Amino acid sequence: MHKSLSRRLFLQGATAAISAASMAGVAKVSAKEINRPVPLYGPPPGIAKLNANENPYGPSPAALKAMMEASQKGAYYVFDSVMRLKTMIAERHGLTPDHVTLGSGSSAGLAAAAIVAGRKGNILGPDLFWDTTSRVVEIQNLGEIKRLPKLESLAIDLDAMYAAIDDSISMVQVTNPNNPTGMLIDPIAMRNFCVKAAKKCTVLADEAYNELTDNSDANTVIPLIKEGHDIIVARTFSKIYGLAGMRVGYLIAQPEKIAEMERFGLGWYGLNQAGLAAAIASYEDHQFMDYCRNKVKEAREMVSAAVKENGLTALPSVTNFMFVNLGDLNAETFRAEMEKEGVLIRGIYRDYTNWSRVSMGYLEDVKQYTSALPKVLHRMS
Ligand SMILES: Cc1ncc(COP(=O)(O)O)c(C=O)c1O
Repeated sequence: MHKSLSRRLFLQGATAAISAASMAGVAKVSAKEINRPVPLYGPPPGIAKLNANENPYGPSPAALKAMMEASQKGAYYVFDSVMRLKTMIAERHGLTPDHVTLGSGSSAGLAAAAIVAGRKGNILGPDLFWDTTSRVVEIQNLGEIKRLPKLESLAIDLDAMYAAIDDSISMVQVTNPNNPTGMLIDPIAMRNFCVKAAKKCTVLADEAYNELTDNSDANTVIPLIKEGHDIIVARTFSKIYGLAGMRVGYLIAQPEKIAEMERFGLGWYGLNQAGLAAAIASYEDHQFMDYCRNKVKEAREMVSAAVKENGLTALPSVTNFMFVNLGDLNAETFRAEMEKEGVLIRGIYRDYTNWSRVSMGYLEDVKQYTSALPKVLHRMS
């Protein structure tokens, strides 16, 4: 959906109250901090927000319509919509609804999985992965995250990972495709690893970016759950569905594991009617997903070309972000310099001081990145 098309469809169905609400979204923040009005619900005009792997083409027109309807019933706690979405997800994979739990984004489920694991042992992961939620085990002194040594390729070595599962490990976590690298694991290797590893401990496969890959069904390990393995798969409506701000994600696992995790912040109370409505309306919207996937590909081609033209390299991403090798430049300085050009990207991850992650947003925002790139590199040289 183009920016203007999605806006037009939204406005067609909007009530006066909704229009007034969106006007109210432009509020003044402290004049001392920022001397101009900033929108509350997204980036200010002229700012290319490429720092959080969001999909600005969402919400889809169908999701916007459903949210409007659901918001009018916002007085009521969620229930039927939760059951509907759980059932849709379960049926899609030939499972029962008790194999599925929903949360406020997949973060809620991932954090619950980490807490359950942390109470029994440590979590094992590669050196670099989306560990924001797993860190809860360290914050709460439950256990630690054990990490594999870094590989030069920044790929995940599944053999080394399997070998590292000792008695202290209660859960092994694989983000596939990985964030921030954007790289995908070979599906057969992933499947074999999961089957073996799940005999030793729980396997958590964070598949937040699965639907952005060319063959999402081949790249998921959800079928292994149907076969009875101790595997948790985390998915989200925040990425390809363009609903990051609506906060809906889910976990699929064995029913007893789901029940165990639901004791830690999952289930009804973290969910909201509008987010559920958007998720239900988007779940099987393949036309919208194809549209977004193509836009992301176009954006990746633009970034790849710019990276090459400027003498840099990037990892082969299958996602809506790319991990760019800045050579001997510092990624935090680069981030700050890009910000001066109105381009928001990520700074340093752990000790990967020369690696910079950029998300694929609107093509015009990606163009702002590619235009700023030579200027910033020149200033930093
Ligand atoms: C790999 C991965 N998993 C999970 C999340 C959490 O997203 P959410 O809580 O919006 O589902 C993110 C967010 O960027 C992510 O990159």
